[in-house]
Amino acid sequence: MTVVVRTATVVDIDELMALRREVAGEGRWIAAELPLDEEGDRRTLTESAERGSLFVAEVEGVLVGMLGMHLPRYLVADLGMNVKDGYRGQGIGSALVERAIEWARSAGAHKIALQHWPHNTAARALYEKYGFEEEGYLRRHYPRNNGEIWDAVVMGLLLD
Ligand SMILES: CC(C)(COP(=O)(O)OP(=O)(O)OC[C@H]1O[C@@H](n2cnc3c(N)ncnc32)[C@H](O)[C@@H]1OP(=O)(O)O)[C@@H](O)C(=O)NCCC(=O)NCCS
Repeated sequence: MTVVVRTATVVDIDELMALRREVAGEGRWIAAELPLDEEGDRRTLTESAERGSLFVAEVEGVLVGMLGMHLPRYLVADLGMNVKDGYRGQGIGSALVERAIEWARSAGAHKIALQHWPHNTAARALYEKYGFEEEGYLRRHYPRNNGEIWDAVVMGLLLD
């Protein structure tokens, strides 16, 4: 399997929205749930693509992974990512995170921050592989569509 990681363009947005919809539909890995905020999410992805902080992983012309970063003025880059079911556990997440760290450094970020659900052991393993450390634990923090309120783990990677 040849995986190409590249910067996304606005042409990719429809396919990335479909990927996001698919992973959100799994209901247990990312913060977003269905129905997506189609307009808001599309705007965020487009802005990120225009800033050069949205990356995709492509296998035979199909987008199977994405990673977006947001860099606010205080220069802590916020990271969010998805790999399509069926393509996980094969190094695609790693390739995307390596690209993201490179981008964050070159953009002047002194840190990357993210959150994951406590049950997301794959995400945890991926982030720890690149040196992210747990910085906090949010108890009963995020309401879900099913009425539950989930905890979240806060992780950070210092770049300076
Ligand atoms: C989390 C996610 C991005 C990881 O991407 P991936 O392509 O599966 O990651 P990789 O294959 O590069 O694996 C990275 C490391 O994590 C480990 N890992 C992967 N899946 C794992 C699992 N299910 N359990 C434990 N460790 C796991 C791998 O062994 C690898 O370490 P190694 O290189 O030392 O062997 C992917 O599973 C995903 O998109 N999941 C659904 C959406 C999601 O959870 N997004 C992140 C929200 S915080």
